[in-house]
Parts: sequence; structure tokens; C-alpha cells
Amino acid sequence: MLAYRHAFHAGNHADVLKHLVLVAVLRHLNAKEKGWRCVDTHAGAGGYSLEGGPAAQRAEWRTGIGRLWARDDLPPAVADYLDVVRGFNPDGVLRQVPGSPAIEQALRRPQDQLRLFELHPTDHRILAGYLGAEPGVEVRMADGFGALKSLLPPPTRRGLLLIDPSYEIKTDYARVLPALREALERFAEGTVVIWIPQLQLLEAAKLPQRLKTAATGHAKKGWLLAGLTVARADARGFGMIGSTVFVANPPHTLEPALRDALPWLADVLADPGPGAWQLASAGA
Ligand SMILES: C[S@@+](CC[C@H](N)C(=O)[O-])C[C@H]1O[C@@H](n2cnc3c(N)ncnc32)[C@H](O)[C@@H]1O
Repeated sequence: MLAYRHAFHAGNHADVLKHLVLVAVLRHLNAKEKGWRCVDTHAGAGGYSLEGGPAAQRAEWRTGIGRLWARDDLPPAVADYLDVVRGFNPDGVLRQVPGSPAIEQALRRPQDQLRLFELHPTDHRILAGYLGAEPGVEVRMADGFGALKSLLPPPTRRGLLLIDPSYEIKTDYARVLPALREALERFAEGTVVIWIPQLQLLEAAKLPQRLKTAATGHAKKGWLLAGLTVARADARGFGMIGSTVFVANPPHTLEPALRDALPWLADVLADPGPGAWQLASAGA
């Protein structure tokens, strides 16, 4: 039985990095008319209210998106991400944050498709109620890792695979690597975005290098790795200190956008400071 609920963490620093990358990738896909398919293997509930319930309890958003909301010096990629979030908060007060499915839906055009996977019964029910009836969208209560065979490559050979496990089950670390390999075998030019927590845990620490190795020579347009470290572990070494996003076949616009955004984010989101950031990439 899955216990993790993303609502408790909605809008935190990890969501900021992941969703900023997601917005940048989708905007790039939208530069061409031809439709795309987005497969979101670990979709969550879709969107989250900050005014009550789990997100309000822990209020992780306050040291995440909350720190960006009123700034007037946003780097362009951060401004672009916040524009999408502002679409969900029309009166200008930050009351709700979109999850990855809501962002995908907001940037989707009629010719684009969403395939959303969520295993937690409650979050699946919320997600299905929110997006399940939308044309072009399918919400499934099924294992997202098992979705690749039937959904990749998309018929238009344009698309995005988002793999965003909670890693509450340790085997998730081991499952991400073959998922990337399978995705690239089926769809070598497709963009794959994988979120990884920064923890004092061997599996987490080794995963970025393993993903780079798996993508090298298989991803037609290379890979990119972006990391943001904004917190400190507790005295016993526990706690997430930041996160990393791995992107196979990144759009060419992503690296310069992140080079601009990451130092600013590391500075603004660090709690306590100083923050740190990493950016690495390689061509095919
Ligand atoms: C980190 S959360 C997703 C957050 C979401 N992608 C976002 O950015 O808003 C991970 C989700 O994956 C779900 N999950 C865990 N294992 C899964 C699996 N094998 N297949 C599909 N969903 C899974 C969890 O219930 C949880 O809701």
C-alpha cells in the first residue's frame, strides 16, 4: 500500500525545479504544430490547494514557490513557470499550485495527448475526477513504469516522458534505469525527464551517473543534468537537501535557460543558505 501523498510537499523547492523544466520542455514542443504525447508515469492528484488539507499542514510551499511569488527579478525560465502557476490563481493570491498533470493540461493543445498514471487510490480518484473526461487525456490506475511498451513511441514521434517517483519504495531507484533504457530504445529522439531526490542514500547518489551512462550513445540529442541544493540534512544525515532533474534529449533552449535560472534559484530558495547548483550536459 502506498503511503506517500504529494499534497504534503506541493510547491516545495523540488516541485519548483521539476515544474520549471516541465514548462520549458512543453513550451519547446509547442513551437511546432505537430501534436505531441506526454506520458506522466507518476502523476499524483493533478493539482493542490494550499489553503487547507495536507499542503497547508506542512506548508513546504512557503520555502518553495512562496519565495518566488512576489519577486520582480525573475529569470525568464522562472517567470515562464510562474506565468503558468498564475493561470491557476487569477486573483493574484497564491492559493493553489498545479501538479505535473495540471501543467501538462494547461500547455496542451487540441492535437496533443496526455497519458497519466497514478497508483494511489485517493490521488487517482482526484486526478480522474479532474482530468479523466477531457478529450485527449487518459487517466489510468496502473503502474507507470509498465506503460512504456504500449505508449512509446507516440504516433507523431514527438513527445515527453516524465518519470517522477516518490521513491518511497526503494526499488524505484532500480526501476528508473531500465525505464530510461526502454524509453530510448523505443523512442531515441524523445525527451525523458526524470526527477531524483538529493539524499544521503547510495541509490540516490549513484542514479544520476547511471542515467548519464544509459543515455550516452542512445539519446539522439544527448542529456542534461540540473541540480539544486537548498537545505541541510539533519544531525543524523536524514532529509532531502535538494533535487536533481535528468533530461534525455533536452531541447537546445533548456541549458541556457537553466544556466540563468539555477544560480538565482539556489540563492532565493536556500534554507538555510548558502545554496548550490549543478548543471552538466553532453551532446549525442
Ligand atoms: C512525486 S509524486 C508525483 C508528483 C507529480 N508528478 C507532480 O509533479 O505533481 C509520485 C506519485 O506516484 C505515485 N506512484 C508511486 N508508484 C507508482 C507507480 N509504480 N505507478 C504509478 N504511480 C505511482 C504515488 O502515489 C505518487 O502520487
